[in-house]
Amino acid sequence: MVILSPSILAADFTRLGEQMEKAEAGGNDYFHFDVMDGMFVPNISFGIPVLKSVRAFTKKTLDVHLMVQSPERYVDKFIDAGADILTVHQEACVPLEETVKHIHECGKKAGVAIKPHTDIQVLEPLYGVADMFLVMTVEPGFGGQEYMDFCTDKIKALRDDLSSKGLDTDIQVDGGITRDNIMTVLEAGANVIVMGSSVFKGDITDNAKFFSQLFKRYDKGEA
Ligand code: DX5
Ligand code: ZN
Repeated sequence: MVILSPSILAADFTRLGEQMEKAEAGGNDYFHFDVMDGMFVPNISFGIPVLKSVRAFTKKTLDVHLMVQSPERYVDKFIDAGADILTVHQEACVPLEETVKHIHECGKKAGVAIKPHTDIQVLEPLYGVADMFLVMTVEPGFGGQEYMDFCTDKIKALRDDLSSKGLDTDIQVDGGITRDNIMTVLEAGANVIVMGSSVFKGDITDNAKFFSQLFKRYDKGEA
């Protein structure tokens, strides 16, 4: 099943609730919540208090992407604030398997992310352990960047490798996904699609509707 996860990083924060309602009216599945610490990535976004407010506002699955050095320090706090899925970066988290297991012990889903230049092989020890793998398709840190074309082969290779081992783990893609390249990432095997600008810039409801309907057709083999 293909899932739409609009990234609120691209929303107007003075109207966040209103803009989330507009996305929901178009039919999203998750909301993607990008946490940046100014260390692991060269930018700072938002954190725990904002997540608490968002949690109180929506029943949608909250998919939290921790672009944070040593994210294991903050996992419990984000869970308390209402995260449903916590994704940590392989490059930033040394006790990686322990952190994934801890997230599971807390009853939440765990994702493991890699940056564009990190090889997919580093994910292999997490096969069958993590619920989702996030293949970044831009350098993490900023919304509105261009999709890095070489990442398509990484998505394909990861999907093939998982399938060859009998696994159908979710593959999330994040960064620069648009109406122009969406079919490329779907056909490569991604099924959890993060979109910031492509949902929140322009008519939010229309954008979310366009992608959610496309994903339904794709699931039925009609797109
Ligand atoms: C980048 C973030 C992304 C970003 C995607 O570091 O992880 O989630 O918001 O934004 P777009 O879709 O605009 O590239
Ligand atoms: Zn993200």
